Amino acid sequence: MSEDVQGQTTDEASESSESSEATIAVHWREEGYIPPPPKFIGQANASDPAILDRFAEENFPECFREYADLLHWDEYWHTTLDTSDPPFWKWFAGGKLNASYNCVDRHLAGDRNKAALIWVPEPEDEADAVITYQELYRRVNEFAAVLQDLGVQAGDRVTLHMPMVPELPVTMLACARLGVVHSQVFAGFSGGACGGRIADSGSKILITMDGYYRSGDLLDHKVKADEAVEAARKEGQEVDKVLVWRRFPGQYSAKTPMVEGRDVFVDDLLADHRGAVVEPVSMPAEAPLFLMYTSGTTGRPKGCQHSTGGYLSYVAGTSKFYQDIHPDDTYWCMADIGWITGHSYIVYGPLALGTTTVLYEGTPNYPDAGRPWRVAERLGVNIFHTSPTAIRMLRKVGPDEPAKYDYHFKAMTTVGEPIEPEVYRWYFSTVGKGEAIITDTWWQTETGGFIGTGLPGLFPMKPGSCGPAALGIYLDILDENGDSIPKGSGKAGNIVSRAPWPGVFQTIWGQPERFVSTYFEKYNKDSGSTDWHDWPYFAGDGAVQSEDGYFRILGRVDDVINVAGHRLGTKELESSALSVEEVAEAAAVPVVDDVRGRVVEMYIALKPGNEASAEVEGKVKTAIETDIGKIARPKNIWIVPDMPKTRSGKIMRRVIASVSNFTDVGDITTLANPEVVDKIRDQVQSAKRAKGEEPRELSETEEHEIKTYGEQE
Ligand code: WTA
Repeated sequence: MSEDVQGQTTDEASESSESSEATIAVHWREEGYIPPPPKFIGQANASDPAILDRFAEENFPECFREYADLLHWDEYWHTTLDTSDPPFWKWFAGGKLNASYNCVDRHLAGDRNKAALIWVPEPEDEADAVITYQELYRRVNEFAAVLQDLGVQAGDRVTLHMPMVPELPVTMLACARLGVVHSQVFAGFSGGACGGRIADSGSKILITMDGYYRSGDLLDHKVKADEAVEAARKEGQEVDKVLVWRRFPGQYSAKTPMVEGRDVFVDDLLADHRGAVVEPVSMPAEAPLFLMYTSGTTGRPKGCQHSTGGYLSYVAGTSKFYQDIHPDDTYWCMADIGWITGHSYIVYGPLALGTTTVLYEGTPNYPDAGRPWRVAERLGVNIFHTSPTAIRMLRKVGPDEPAKYDYHFKAMTTVGEPIEPEVYRWYFSTVGKGEAIITDTWWQTETGGFIGTGLPGLFPMKPGSCGPAALGIYLDILDENGDSIPKGSGKAGNIVSRAPWPGVFQTIWGQPERFVSTYFEKYNKDSGSTDWHDWPYFAGDGAVQSEDGYFRILGRVDDVINVAGHRLGTKELESSALSVEEVAEAAAVPVVDDVRGRVVEMYIALKPGNEASAEVEGKVKTAIETDIGKIARPKNIWIVPDMPKTRSGKIMRRVIASVSNFTDVGDITTLANPEVVDKIRDQVQSAKRAKGEEPRELSETEEHEIKTYGEQE
């Protein structure tokens, strides 16, 4: 989203550099187990422990046939795992398939009239849209015909900037039908952020929507398309066509005018392709299916490239065993398709299994905190999937709401951030009414699907832990020297996956060296080796493993701040702030928050001759909203007289992070200007108290994160 700042190294090896996590002992109270309800076990897709043997290490990699066999292959593969070009693994090499065929066509024979998607619009008086597999087939084919008509071909990239509407999966599946690589950008991101991703991926087509509802307002979304095209142009990428879906077909909901010759309404184009049938293009297993951009240590976002065969197999398999999806379930994942969770566990996984997946347009607490439970009651949702932030928020604003509604979940999921045991318990007893299992799933944009989580019918739950490694995944915790930290030692380290798996991303689009240096260099034993044992995957999270083999994820060891389950790169935030003329220095730090996990606070030092003012603050805020999006808006912006720095001029982020979190700043004797610390503390903490932001007690791991923040640079 932005470039490197302040002469920091762009060498991505720094992304995998020293972590002090490895050196701390974690004294954390072991939580008690909660057994899965017998009723759940009785019907679970994985209830026979024999499955653990099938996926044991001696059966790797052939064990993953079981996942791939959930799909229809046009041609069966000859090599399950090809390691000839490490660490660019190829799964199911030689195989051919089409993702759209697998998610749509093949369900027609038995389930033509079954709901594939149920879309719940945010306004409660607007009717749901129920889209059967037959209708999904129609829509996907017609839109694929539109794309074909525009000359889009297999391997081309197309950027989507769409909200949570059924047209989004339709668009994705139409791309997949043609072998076109889609790159969906979260609708909440700014036009500028979208434009950066258009340029990076080399897309000539942008697909968007005129507007959508969010917290009661019909937002003008089309305006972002104009900004995106402009931002892409600045980076040298021309967008030829902007395809605009209309939230209400035939009626334009945005104020921003259409650009003649460039912008077209999709509903107009569709009229020419009514009834069109487009043959699914049979794609090699290793052909890219989509790009999903995520943040890293340097400013430039990473386009994580996911494969067709490996990815689809992995999300189908994990949806079956971890989401426990049966064909007649009604499954609702309340995430946004703009994130990897939505790609894997709203669209591809559930549709590959032929189930009914619910899509919700708006915010969970609109118009009130009972909304999710009303939807669940009305639609008979029995599998529910959301994030700790949503659970914390719903617990805060409507702790007694779930009991008022007659719904019954058998399974629930949490994803994206560590969940506090007490929040977990509310999720279990109040939302799940004590009847539903919870799977805490640890994974990443890069991993394609869950990699750390217990099989729900076979492993008891333990609040605060994601559980053991997923089937066929062999996790380990390594110290800085690459030595394995024994389980039960109470010591934290860097969590790695020792072996590849089918869902792992293939590369960073256009940056293969960064792929190797960020994820593999740290623990690679021999760069010439074609033996996967020499290439552990470095995930960038600190973790600790208890005696029973369960993992507890402590958070990022790099410069990424996880806000409400969304990864924001510190450098992206800072370079955006630095684009404001008056700003000399900027530092973003995490602040522990009861609902969002972490929020961002931004410290700013001005160029000489400038005064701190609300105007400069406003400019910084606008810059961040324009470059990244409202989601990244800092909670507070502190304009300080000077930044605490080392003698070599490095900003001590741990010191300001401690100030923002009301915790002890630690040793400041190595600072070049220790006297500024008191000034900053007085300024920031008195302003916070005046706003009613009182000190909050930090847990041991939170305190550790704050006190060492930025030290890995
Ligand atoms: C964090 C989201 C604790 C972690 C699927 C990871 C978690 C980052 C969990 C990836 C979990 C994800 N418990 N932490 N169950 N799940 N994380 O790419 O730090 O948006 O590296 O993928 O979220 O975020 P991403």
